[in-house]
Amino acid sequence: MAEKTVKLKIKRQTGPNAEPHWDEFEIPWKPGMNVISAMMDIAANPVTKDGKQTTPIAYDSNCLEEICGSCAMLINGKAKMACSALVDHFEQPITVEPLSKFPIVRDLAVDRSVLFENLKKVKAWVPVDGTYDLGSGPRITPQQQEQSYPLSNCISCTICMEVCPQFNEGTGFVGAATISQVALFNDHPTGAVLKEERLHALMGDGGIHECGYAQNCVESCPKEIPLTRSISRVAGQVMIQSIKDIFSS
Ligand code: SF4
Ligand code: FES
Repeated sequence: MAEKTVKLKIKRQTGPNAEPHWDEFEIPWKPGMNVISAMMDIAANPVTKDGKQTTPIAYDSNCLEEICGSCAMLINGKAKMACSALVDHFEQPITVEPLSKFPIVRDLAVDRSVLFENLKKVKAWVPVDGTYDLGSGPRITPQQQEQSYPLSNCISCTICMEVCPQFNEGTGFVGAATISQVALFNDHPTGAVLKEERLHALMGDGGIHECGYAQNCVESCPKEIPLTRSISRVAGQVMIQSIKDIFSS
């Protein structure tokens, strides 16, 4: 064993209904090592600290540069992106667990499709019709770009949902990421054509009224998206829409 080592304690589960258990590993330290590269080293030699042969850890990752959003997990109890979580920044043994609010697929891999279903519910896209040349789109002012660009940085990591006390089966709350995407697409001059539909989607069960303003989302978002500002803006739009609905019914 190299002089300096990294100790990890990883929560594992062989399948969705299996009993969870912990495996401990001690691997040679490398400069710049992050939690994903540590798990890659474990995969190259999957032997636990006490010498038991095991299987490589299952987890999701892709870009390794905090862009794809797939590697969110609990590291020393906090929701983090594992590819940017440098082992030197954590007390050891580093505990690694799957996100707690999503169904387990295996080990650290969880099913986060609820976010994508929520984005579909609010039509989080700019509608384009067909493949023909639509010509140049409407102009967007620099001020508008400045407001929208940070919101477009969402990487769908689901950390804002994991840390939100209101995101649970009881409320069915859609979560901050979805609401922030409503703000983004409602602001877009072409996307605004679906504004009413988006706002109506947020008025029903699990809608924006479920937000308890705990602000955990804005404190935990790895892309520093101004989520509480988005939520306040969309809450205002929902209120105006509900007044319009009263007068048009
Ligand atoms: S808003 Fe932030 S925390 Fe939430 S999914 Fe997007 S990037 Fe992740
Ligand atoms: S691997 Fe893509 S965000 Fe971590």
